[in-house]
Amino acid sequence: MNDEILDALLAGFPLPSLAIDRTERIIAANIEALTLINQQARGQNYVTMLRQPALLDAIETTLTDGMARSTQYLSNDGAQDTAFRVSCRAVQGLGRDMAGVVLVSFEDITDKEQAGQMRRDFVANVSHELRTPLTALMGFIETLRGPARNDPEAGARFLDIMQNEAERMNRLVGDLMSLNRVEGDERVRPTQSVVLNDILNSTLHTLQPLAREADVTFETEFPEIPVAMIADGDQLKQVFTNIIMNAIKYGGSGGRVTLQMTESAREPVLRAPGVRVQIIDYGAGIDPIHLPRLTERFYRADDHRSRALGGTGLGLAIVKHIINRHRGRLRVESELGKGTTFTVILPIQEGL
Ligand SMILES: Nc1ncnc2c1ncn2[C@@H]1O[C@H](COP(=O)(O)OP(=O)(O)OP(=O)(O)O)[C@@H](O)[C@H]1O
Ligand SMILES: [Mg+2]
Repeated sequence: MNDEILDALLAGFPLPSLAIDRTERIIAANIEALTLINQQARGQNYVTMLRQPALLDAIETTLTDGMARSTQYLSNDGAQDTAFRVSCRAVQGLGRDMAGVVLVSFEDITDKEQAGQMRRDFVANVSHELRTPLTALMGFIETLRGPARNDPEAGARFLDIMQNEAERMNRLVGDLMSLNRVEGDERVRPTQSVVLNDILNSTLHTLQPLAREADVTFETEFPEIPVAMIADGDQLKQVFTNIIMNAIKYGGSGGRVTLQMTESAREPVLRAPGVRVQIIDYGAGIDPIHLPRLTERFYRADDHRSRALGGTGLGLAIVKHIINRHRGRLRVESELGKGTTFTVILPIQEGL
């Protein structure tokens, strides 16, 4: 079989693939492989074209011993790295003098790698978050047993702190479980029919004591006609609770939090009927560099302040998953010193 036939065969193959014969030349390659390696790779020596030691080793040994092997290849298109699992297999009876070739094919495993990395990061983050209060608890237990044994006043104070730390751990575990549940049913469409005005009013009612404590008043601008939709009522209440609680905790210095709801027959972002709920605070705002990552688990714009206020950094991650489940969108705009606006955009089913 000549090189053209081999080329034609590789062209029918979806993965980037090339063939190297005993003369160490790339004798055939498909477009995917040329795009990945070099448009001029055909006919060239593979060593000058591939350049990554692990892959060169694998090809060389497979050329010599005929055994299949796989290795990794990293490519960078200037913007991002792509990781490939490369398989090298000897094929007999092809190439110069029919002495056999090595068929090299590249499988993009970036997504799998990223998923693995995310899982490892997550476990590391959770451990870190749990360890901080746990270390504090252990320290105080030791102090209560030792130096503070006969000091009831200090003892009472330490017990207060210990209770705070234990509550933080409890909140963290609760939020993790809630995040887990939300992620689990992200692909299941909600089926309840709910009235958004009622959900918002009940959320505000629940948060009223917290707002009063922080000297924050709520202002509402809702449409006269209640907005009905298919959704998961408890989950939407969680969305608005988390966002409004943040507005009170981090934006409360503005003294008020405004809630606006607007319904539209054609919401431009969704290209369908939808409703926008805006939660506006007039507090310190968020530096724009934080905005793209705000909904990541454990991401805090102001780490110190968030922890001091008992935050777990999971609130907005939960919000994002619930909004995804509802096929909605979340927008955040903020200006330092002026305040922050969270916009929740949800689709409304026609004919309700
Ligand atoms: N309205 C706001 N104004 C200023 N910063 C905010 C606002 N809302 C959120 N942030 C910032 O975004 C971060 C992430 O918020 P998120 O709700 O996910 O976590 P958290 O409030 O720290 O913890 P949790 O909500 O789980 O108790 C917060 O730590 C805070 O720094
Ligand atoms: Mg929060």
